[in-house]
Amino acid sequence: MTLDWQTLSARAAAAKSRRILDLFDGTDRARDFSVEAGGLLFDYSKTHMTPDDRDLLLGMYRAAGVEARREAMFEGRKINDTEDRAVLHTALRNLDGGPVLVDGQDVMPGVLATLDRMGRFAEDVRAGRFRGRGGAITDVVNIGIGGSDLGPAMATLALAPYHDGPRCHFVSNIDGAHVADILRPLDPARTLVIVASKTFTTIETMTNAATAKAWMSEAVARPADQFAALSTAAERTEAFGIHPDRVFGFEDWVGGRYSMWGPIGLSLMIAIGRDAFHAFLRGGQEMDRHFRAAAPRDSLPVMLALSGLWHNQGMGLPTRAVLPYEQRLARLPAYLQQLEMESNGKQTTMEGGQVPAASVPVVWGEPGTNGQHAFYQMIHQGTQVVPCEFLLGAEGHEPELAHHHQLLVANCLAQSQALMTGRSLAQAEALMAKAGFTGDDLRRQAAHRVFPGNRPSVTLVYPKLTPFVLGQIIALYEHRTFVEGAMLGINSFDQWGVELGKELAKSLEPVVAGEAPGEGLDPSTQALVATVHRFADAG
Ligand code: F6P
Repeated sequence: MTLDWQTLSARAAAAKSRRILDLFDGTDRARDFSVEAGGLLFDYSKTHMTPDDRDLLLGMYRAAGVEARREAMFEGRKINDTEDRAVLHTALRNLDGGPVLVDGQDVMPGVLATLDRMGRFAEDVRAGRFRGRGGAITDVVNIGIGGSDLGPAMATLALAPYHDGPRCHFVSNIDGAHVADILRPLDPARTLVIVASKTFTTIETMTNAATAKAWMSEAVARPADQFAALSTAAERTEAFGIHPDRVFGFEDWVGGRYSMWGPIGLSLMIAIGRDAFHAFLRGGQEMDRHFRAAAPRDSLPVMLALSGLWHNQGMGLPTRAVLPYEQRLARLPAYLQQLEMESNGKQTTMEGGQVPAASVPVVWGEPGTNGQHAFYQMIHQGTQVVPCEFLLGAEGHEPELAHHHQLLVANCLAQSQALMTGRSLAQAEALMAKAGFTGDDLRRQAAHRVFPGNRPSVTLVYPKLTPFVLGQIIALYEHRTFVEGAMLGINSFDQWGVELGKELAKSLEPVVAGEAPGEGLDPSTQALVATVHRFADAG
């Protein structure tokens, strides 16, 4: 199967000269270029895409065989073939969807039994039935990195209004400052440490876990009694000393960055409770059903993916900004960086060839309105065009602060409006004339106040950030990543690109510690090691 990426980029290049605003003339574009499903609305009307361009993209989608691959994923076939694994994070939220077979075995009884065990443990911690040596647990520390950190950390913050359990903290970085700063104010006798690591070998996590254990042992005779583990590696959790009752396992068919729906979500479950966590799963399950059932043009994940491909692979725009107008989604951009860039940041197709177009844009972002007072300058007037993805809740959780929310909504809508409409030179000159400028001075001042406009953005509107809606949004982004990867022929579920750096760090460690010579190293690295030694000695 070959997809015509050249035609797409030629079409998208031609589209740049088109005015987005003109595309609305005589059409019902706001409705026609949006998808509403499950209470969410995805608006892609403020893009350069015409109905013909959309047809081209939809044709490419059909030709790429995404739907067959999608069904293979949901049915538990081993679509992650560089690791010979099924891809079944969807099974973790398949609360009442029936059996899912891997190698002829239904995985659902195991998934539901683990979910039940998690629920009982979480409720025991929340109710003070599971206690530390000094009493009921007041603080939970999740130690994990990448997918074993970003998901629960992002979601715990996102769902702060539902957080009625113990305080939750997240330690990820190998930098000792991270674990030290988190542990310092805590009472070890009333802290539960959760070691979250699929492999239970990740150097950052295992180093931080050992440090936390040593910290706890100063106050607790058997520190492992206040530890839980989330992992696929039962023998390693046992070697660490964690009782099997507090080990929540999952299978190799759950990828790290897709794992927050299962045991890796334990800290979130302790924070918001079993029922709210189930609501989060149900939101994900609802999105799965929508993804499988909706026609491509009516599908939120498909249209979100096609808008992404249009901007990056088509128009050649190298980044995309994710701009949640929801302070509690502050960690969403970091979460999506792993989801999208670790999944699709690859150069080799499943068949071993070269990926036929750009693989994935640089994903970045910050919550609005803060970003408005920082990098939006570049988004509006810089020389590079950044397609923006706005996320907007119709309602906040603070009814007493409704005027804040109105301002938030107005700001979000104003930004996408400004990106599209811009401000012409004539308009800027009129403004300057009104302000009393004349002649060359007027022209020079006006030039700085021109907004080119015609810059694309898309907007996802949701009713209110409840656990269910968060589940829908995260599953939506997962499936968007899947569709983009599948259309490019990429296996979105391995991550070989992180391995080389890990290996080199292992062999560099003794050199940095001064226990091994650095002779075999390249001259640049050798010089940097020498500088670190020199600076440390001087300090
Ligand atoms: O190094 C990348 C990675 O393997 C991610 O894919 C994963 O989410 C993270 O490390 C953590 O891995 P683990 O859960 O095995 O500690």
